[in-house]
Amino acid sequence: MQIRSRLYVFLLLVPVFFSCSAQKYIPFPYAFEKSIEADSAAVVTAHPLATRVGISILRRGGNAVDAAIAVHFALAVVYPQAGNIGGGGFLIYRDSAGRTAALDFREKAPAAATETMYQDSAGNVLPEKSRFGVFACGIPGSVDGMWEAHKKYGSLPWADLLAPAILLADKGYQITEKEAQQLSEEKVNFIRYTRMVPVFVKMHAWETGDWLIQKDLATTLRRIASRGRDGFYEGPTASLIEYEMKKQNGLITLEDLKNYNSVWRTPVEFDWRGLHIISMPPPSSGGILLQQMLGMLGDADLKGMGFHSPAAVHLMVEAERRAYADRAMHMGDADFWDVPLDTLVSPHYLARRMADFNPDQATASTNVEAGVIKTSEETTHYSIVDAHGNAVSVTTTLNDSYGSRVVVSGAGFLLNNEMDDFSAKPGAPNLYGAIGGKANAVAPRKRPLSSMTPTIVTRDGRLALVVGTPGGTTIPTSVYQVILNVFEFDLPLDSAVHSKRFHHQWLPDKIQVEEGVFPEAVTLKLEEIGHVVAPRDPIGRVEAILCEPNGKLRAVADTRGDDSAGGY
Ligand code: DON
Repeated sequence: MQIRSRLYVFLLLVPVFFSCSAQKYIPFPYAFEKSIEADSAAVVTAHPLATRVGISILRRGGNAVDAAIAVHFALAVVYPQAGNIGGGGFLIYRDSAGRTAALDFREKAPAAATETMYQDSAGNVLPEKSRFGVFACGIPGSVDGMWEAHKKYGSLPWADLLAPAILLADKGYQITEKEAQQLSEEKVNFIRYTRMVPVFVKMHAWETGDWLIQKDLATTLRRIASRGRDGFYEGPTASLIEYEMKKQNGLITLEDLKNYNSVWRTPVEFDWRGLHIISMPPPSSGGILLQQMLGMLGDADLKGMGFHSPAAVHLMVEAERRAYADRAMHMGDADFWDVPLDTLVSPHYLARRMADFNPDQATASTNVEAGVIKTSEETTHYSIVDAHGNAVSVTTTLNDSYGSRVVVSGAGFLLNNEMDDFSAKPGAPNLYGAIGGKANAVAPRKRPLSSMTPTIVTRDGRLALVVGTPGGTTIPTSVYQVILNVFEFDLPLDSAVHSKRFHHQWLPDKIQVEEGVFPEAVTLKLEEIGHVVAPRDPIGRVEAILCEPNGKLRAVADTRGDDSAGGY
């Protein structure tokens, strides 16, 4: 009752920062702030409305974790392709005193999951089954994750942090051109995989500026606001999920939901060339890959080689290739598989891995070509620094764009297709062309291996960079490249984020590049020494905050999407 009344008081206050009517949250078309300088605090997210929510919480005296929670729920409304309550993710935290934490709210396989559940009786992989529909869903972790983060670090009342999201769902918001296009493209899938036609489906194509109103989602969020974690994992929301599963032959049960737990883990932390890097341990491969790739650079003078020079790209790619080969073989949920963490990142091991590096010749990965890389970029990252210097870096996802495409009927939210991140069969590529084996095989209650790499960098004990991105398997290489761009190539943060990227993941054996990343002469040189250079769609959408030498914050939102930065 008390929480409820606080919620209503807050709803009355919401217009202070959202203006009086729902029509005027912020003027449409939105201004996408791609780069801002702030004196005290900054927020960068995939959507200007979510950024606005984060800033409003910070201005009210909320800390970075409060802002992260409010942003998370706001993204679940205004960025349905990846923002979520039906998915999961990872949070890296560093407080102003230098204490660090890593929260794993990754989805878990249902108790009834089996190693061969995505194979037919002859052992053939059935990719559709791990990508679409309820059979592809892991037990969602986001609400429990936000609840845990709030219990440990939150300072404002929980319900207050959900109030902006509830308002956005209830009153609606205007969609951008990109959202209109993506919603229209997914119409067939929404109809196919959802029992009741969801609000994401319109008779005609969506247009820029159309209003998206999500009443069922608002009701679900109200339950979470008033009952906390139990508003999702028990009671009506859990029953609606269970009903959806029963009706469509999914595996998640009430017991699975009730038992879901997010976990505080020890972050991956390491020193590299005067920096201290804090990132995500298993079940993400992100932190280990980052440490391996940076470590494999040895003492090479990248800046001396030149930004995007053939020599620098070749060395970076060869490190990527070797790290990703280790990912396929050795990495999985460390609660289920003995990931040889210490060995994988030991200087001796990394030096050995690079012993066959030839500066004049690409190393062949293997003759086996893995699957085609799908180009959807629908995970989302947000970076937040508050006025005290506490920093939060969160990457969260439904996996693919709009996840499994299943909207829980009556509850209004999308469920993930995170089960596709498991290795359906040793050597079979997933959505991102990543292959794996036993380490990442499906097992009851296990978490699928992730690439998400929310990261915080410090220098001389002071906060330096908060960074992360979506992009499936390209995530660790994007974070790696942005760190190198800033701290090795001395690029301003804008250029470090906006400049085009390249990616190698061992298999398929090619450098995937954003169109126009290199001058032709560089591409030719790379090809001459044996690399295959293959253009592809944009790589990642990085959200970064840099602490500048003048004490200000530079917040940069990627130009590849509707991302937007804010601060004060
Ligand atoms: O956890 C992972 O690595 C993937 N599920 C992330 C998916 C992703 O980044 C989608 N966007 N490209």
